Amino acid sequence: RDIPKYVTPLRIPPAMPTVAPDPERDTYEIAVRQFRQQILPPPWPRTTVWGYGSTAHPGSFGYPAPTIMARVGRPVRVTWVNQLVDDRGDYLPHLLPVDPTVHWADPAGGIEHRDRHGRWDGSPQGYRGPVPQVVHLHGAHSAQESDGHAEAWYLPTARDLPPDFAVSGSAYREFRSRFAERSGLRWTPGSATFEYANDQRPCTLWYHDHTLGLTRENVYAGPAGFYLLGGDELPEEVLPGPAPTRADPPTASYHDIPLMIQDRSFTADGDLQYPKRYSGNGDGPPVSVPGFSGSTIVVNGRTWPTLTVRRRRYRFRLLNGCNSRFLLLSVAANATARPARPVLPVWQIGSDGGFLPEPVAHERVSLGPAQRVDAIVDFTDVPAGTELYLVNEGPDGMYAGGRPGVDFPPADPQTTGQVLRFVVTDAAGADPSVPPEQLRLPAHPRLGAAQRVRQLSLNERGSGGSTVMLLGVLDERGRGLPLRWSDPVTEQPTLGDTEVWEVRNFTRHVHPVHLHQVQFELLGRGHSGRAQPGPADRGWMDTVLAYPWEVTRIKAHFDLPGRYAWHCHLLEHEDNEMMRPLNVLPRGG
Ligand code: C2O
Ligand code: CU
Repeated sequence: RDIPKYVTPLRIPPAMPTVAPDPERDTYEIAVRQFRQQILPPPWPRTTVWGYGSTAHPGSFGYPAPTIMARVGRPVRVTWVNQLVDDRGDYLPHLLPVDPTVHWADPAGGIEHRDRHGRWDGSPQGYRGPVPQVVHLHGAHSAQESDGHAEAWYLPTARDLPPDFAVSGSAYREFRSRFAERSGLRWTPGSATFEYANDQRPCTLWYHDHTLGLTRENVYAGPAGFYLLGGDELPEEVLPGPAPTRADPPTASYHDIPLMIQDRSFTADGDLQYPKRYSGNGDGPPVSVPGFSGSTIVVNGRTWPTLTVRRRRYRFRLLNGCNSRFLLLSVAANATARPARPVLPVWQIGSDGGFLPEPVAHERVSLGPAQRVDAIVDFTDVPAGTELYLVNEGPDGMYAGGRPGVDFPPADPQTTGQVLRFVVTDAAGADPSVPPEQLRLPAHPRLGAAQRVRQLSLNERGSGGSTVMLLGVLDERGRGLPLRWSDPVTEQPTLGDTEVWEVRNFTRHVHPVHLHQVQFELLGRGHSGRAQPGPADRGWMDTVLAYPWEVTRIKAHFDLPGRYAWHCHLLEHEDNEMMRPLNVLPRGG
C-alpha cells in the first residue's frame, strides 16, 4: 500500500513534565510503556510502539518522548520505570523477534526456549519473556551509576514474572546499592534513579534505551527523546526560539525545533517491521542482521511530515536517530530532483557537545547515527507560498564515505531520499535573531596536553553471512587485535588524565564511534591521522565518523571514575559485540 507524503503536520514534542517542585533540582518520574500512535497517515491504522512519558501525566507518553528541558548547573534527577506490562499487570513480550544467541541482557540466563540439552526449541519469535530496559543519556557527563550502563538493565515489576528470572543486571545491582547509599533514595524494583549534574556546555543531548545486545530492537520500537541543555553562553534572543517549555502539546509558534530523523519499515497492517533472519536451515532461533535500512523516513514519529514556516530564521536540532542509516541532508526546491546546489544553506552552529567556534554553511549536512547538528535555516528571503524539501542523499545501506551519485547511489529519491516538506508562509512580526553569517559564537576551551596515546582498531572478522565487526587494540606488528565486550578491559585511563585515541579502521565501512562520559575533540583523520578536521568537525563531539582505512585521532579528558563503555553507534554492530568497556581508574589505585 502506498504511503502518501506530506499529509500530516510535523509533531513537535512537548516538554516533559516534572513531578514535584524542588528548589535543588528538576525531578522526573519517566516510564517506558507500550501504546498505539498514528505514525503512518490515516487511513493507515495506528502503530504499536514503545515510548517514554511522565507517570504523573498519562497523556504525555509519546514516540519520540517529550523533551527534557535542562539548564547548565541545575541537576536533573529521573526515576526511570520499566512499565512494559499490559492492563492486567502481566509482562509484555518484545514487539520484534529477539535474538537469544548474542551476548545480551538475558534475564533467564539462557535457559528459556532450550531443551534439557541446551538445544533451541524452535520458537520463531526467539525470547518471549519480559523485556529488560535501561536508559542512557547520550553525550552527558554522567556519574557511572547514572550512565545507563548496558548491564544495568531492569525488568518490569510484572505480576507474572517467572520466578527464576533475574530482575536486573549485575551492574544495576552494584550501582543501585551504591547510589541509594549516597543519595538516600528509596530502592524500587522495576526502575532506576539516575541523576544528571548538567556540568557541561549547553548542547543537544538525547536519551534512549541501551540494554546489552537488545538496543537495536528496543530503540527501533520507539523509546527515545531529546534533552536540551540550555545555558548562558549566548544571550537567548540571538538564536531563533523558543522551544516548547510546557507539558501541553505545543500550539504556539516555536522556532527552536528538534527533528529526530529515523528510518522505519511497516507491515501491511501498519506494524513496525524489522528483518528476521534465522540460524541453521531456518530451524534455529532468530538471529541479528548486520545492518538495517528502513523503507520510510519518520520525523518526530510521523512519516514524511510537513512543517509550515514563517519567513524568518529557525533553529533545528537535527538528530540522526536511525539504527544504521547515514544521512546527507540538504534543502531542495524539488522533492525528487537533485540539483547540484541546494536552494538554502543549512548553517551549522553546534555539534554533539556544544557550539562550534564559528557558524559553518553546509550545502549538505552529514549525520551518522546518534550525531546531532545544531542548525539554523533562514527562510527570510523565501517568497510566501514556496514549498521546500529537506532531502537525503545518504545511501540506502552501508556507508563507506564519498560523494552521493559519484561514489555510491543516493537514497531512493521517491522514498528514503525525502525527509520533510517546508511550506513557507508570510513573515510574522520581527525576528530578533542574528543572521547566521553575522553570528558570533562563544569561544570554547581546548583540551590540554595528553598524558597518553592509545592505539585502537576497528575490525571485521569471519566471512559470508557470519561476519562480525569488533573494536580492539593493535598487536605488536600493528595489526588489529579484535576484542569482545567480555574480554579483559584494555581501555583504563587514569582519573584526571587526557588521552589521545588513534582509532584505525580496518574495515570497509564507516563506523560512528561513541565514547561515554566525555565530549572529545577531533585532532585529525586520513591515512596518517594528520589531516586537519573540517570546520564542522572543530566542535566537541561524543560520536565521530571513522572512515575506512583511516586513522581517526581524538582527544578526551576523563574526570569521572568508574565503569563506562565505548562502542560503534550502528546499533546492529553495537548489539553484536562492537562495544568495549571503558574503565576510568582512580589515581594511584
Ligand atoms: Cu547513544 Cu552508548 O549510546
Ligand atoms: Cu560499526
